[in-house]
Amino acid sequence: MEKKDNFPEGLTRREFVEAVVVTGVAAGLPASAAEPSGGAQTAAYALNINGQDHHLTLDTRTTLLDALREHLNLTGSKKGCDHGQCGACTVLANGRRINSCLSLAVVHQGDHIVTIEGLSQGDDLHPMQTAFLEHDGFQCGYCTPGQICSAVALLDEARAGAPSAVTAQLRSVGPVQLNDDEIRERMSGNICRCGAYPNIVAAVRAVSQGRRS
Ligand code: FES
Ligand code: FES
Repeated sequence: MEKKDNFPEGLTRREFVEAVVVTGVAAGLPASAAEPSGGAQTAAYALNINGQDHHLTLDTRTTLLDALREHLNLTGSKKGCDHGQCGACTVLANGRRINSCLSLAVVHQGDHIVTIEGLSQGDDLHPMQTAFLEHDGFQCGYCTPGQICSAVALLDEARAGAPSAVTAQLRSVGPVQLNDDEIRERMSGNICRCGAYPNIVAAVRAVSQGRRS
């Protein structure tokens, strides 16, 4: 017969192990012992999104993507993977593209965040938005806000001479010429399940060549 003395509330060893495996919680242990120490912490802070200050009080573990979508009703940025792998959540932070699913909102106090909703000026679309429309750079559109934000930042990176993995001259000698290989490489963090890649490249190429800016 199994001894019960060493397990909570007289459980056998078998009963104790089964409870942990099935529920992830050590049954019979006090609740405080089964929870991570510390618990949730909230903080009050302001975020500047698309030129507007927003005052929030959120769990400090809230990602920027969740703050945008769940608390500010800015649902243009999409959650594809929530793991930094698809680019659907791409936004601009001080002009640089970031995966907002991988970044805590609280660290962006003082930053200027731009989402897809902030790229147009009223009814005037950003040239990259117009180019995506003209070149059919999407099908279902789920990846499109991230693609467009990425493409906008990509142009600035190339103008500043930042090399990519396919840039022949790694030492910066001025703006990088964006051929199709450069565009594909620099957009490789943005996945499109519909496979609209040729038209996305065409849209970015058009803007980079000044036909849409
Ligand atoms: Fe952020 Fe996929 S949702 S990279
Ligand atoms: Fe559907 Fe890209 S347009 S995922």
